[in-house]
Amino acid sequence: MKREKKEIKKPAGRLGVLIPGLGAVTTTFMAGIESIRRGEYPAFGSVTQMGHIRLGRRDENRQPLIKDVVPLAELDDIVCCCWDIFPDNAYESACHANVLSKDQLDSVKNYLKTINPLPAVFDTKYVKRLDGPHVKKGKSWWDKHLMLQNDIEAFARANDIERMVMIWCGSTEIYLENSEAHHTIEAFEKGLKLNDASISPSMVYAYTAIKNGIPFVNGAPHLSCDIPALIQLARKLGVPIAGKDYKTGQTLLKTIIAPGLKARMLGIEGWFSTNILGNRDGEVLDDPGSFKSKEVSKLSVLDTILQPDLYPDLYSNLYHKVRINYYPPRGDKKEGWDNIDIFGWMGKKMQIKIDFLCRDSILAAPVVLDLILLIDLAQRSQMGGIQEWLSFYFKSPMSDESVYPEHDLFIQLLKMKNTLRFMVGEDLITHLGTEYYDYF
Ligand SMILES: NC(=O)c1ccc[n+]([C@@H]2O[C@H](COP(=O)([O-])OP(=O)(O)OC[C@H]3O[C@@H](n4cnc5c(N)ncnc54)[C@H](O)[C@@H]3O)[C@@H](O)[C@H]2O)c1
Repeated sequence: MKREKKEIKKPAGRLGVLIPGLGAVTTTFMAGIESIRRGEYPAFGSVTQMGHIRLGRRDENRQPLIKDVVPLAELDDIVCCCWDIFPDNAYESACHANVLSKDQLDSVKNYLKTINPLPAVFDTKYVKRLDGPHVKKGKSWWDKHLMLQNDIEAFARANDIERMVMIWCGSTEIYLENSEAHHTIEAFEKGLKLNDASISPSMVYAYTAIKNGIPFVNGAPHLSCDIPALIQLARKLGVPIAGKDYKTGQTLLKTIIAPGLKARMLGIEGWFSTNILGNRDGEVLDDPGSFKSKEVSKLSVLDTILQPDLYPDLYSNLYHKVRINYYPPRGDKKEGWDNIDIFGWMGKKMQIKIDFLCRDSILAAPVVLDLILLIDLAQRSQMGGIQEWLSFYFKSPMSDESVYPEHDLFIQLLKMKNTLRFMVGEDLITHLGTEYYDYF
């Protein structure tokens, strides 16, 4: 039985992608989309570009590409606009990040050189290990919000932009608790005018985007749009928002392995995760305030997957520790070790060791692309507020207050694919065999 299709506006015209932060992730993303546009590589790691989706019953054999089922923007229509606290263009910043080889960067050099960041909304109070000269000067957050708004309008006009999305790829800010100014839209707007210290730069970007009807994605673990005032504003204006913290590297593996161990009712006594990395992100995370944001995001994963309340014998004594160590010689070539102490039949103990020699920005770039395309799709489908179906891409997924966030990668994938099926009027897939329908 076919469902009624949701009304989805066609992705006509150019899509403006607004990116605070022109560092390793952003420049790797930009170099990648340019080389994909030129046919140099397939979009490795991108579910929207390479993933197929099953439609209907298995005997129908319908497995089209996701991008052929839902109307996504074309990569050729993406135009980027960035802000950063350093004035380096995207080519210079990519060289500094040292993720891609010289050959790979040379082939997209001309494109990267055209991307010059605008001065950022920034305050070193919120990112202690970083300071730069390329920042906006204004009396209050409100003034800086108005400056961002002017930047966005000028960019849209100059580039003949039809629609926009904003995606945070800037540094991780210090851990902030929810406070008075975060509670309502009115309190937040008052706080912007009074320069409230509980409002951080990433919140000013998020507010500017949402207020202007532009979907917002938060790729870092700090709060940003994850405060009641901005969630209310997004709901009120029907603007999609999503976050937090791209799920890459160690946490990606954690959310692949933990559901598997739980599925087989194997107990876990301890999970020790440690990393060494030497890029700018690692330097920022070396500060205890920024690390606290990351730690909260990384630690939340296991509890919700393993449900110790439901399975006290298996998981209530789990000792979970996460460490990030800044180690400059490694640059962007992160190494993540996991030691997992598990137990099984008759309490017998076993161990799993993982050594993931990963490239964080290589894993993050396709996530950035997918999130841009999918949050734009959400906007064109009139889906405002928190986009829980995009949890698949986040370490610390935002969810409605009434439910717990879903961390299990496979449940997240099922939810995302069923949402896509739902949008185009296809049956949701429950994996219940049709042969059983007659029994009940
Ligand atoms: N690389 C990954 O796999 C990964 C995974 C999850 C989350 N993240 C998060 O994504 C973000 C980007 O990571 P990265 O590796 O590109 O870091 P990076 O340090 O290379 O780049 C961040 C850039 O943001 C700029 N910046 C900082 N504050 C800013 C502001 N207020 N406005 C504009 N620009 C600002 C910095 O100058 C820097 O150039 C970080 O918050 C990181 O924690 C990355």
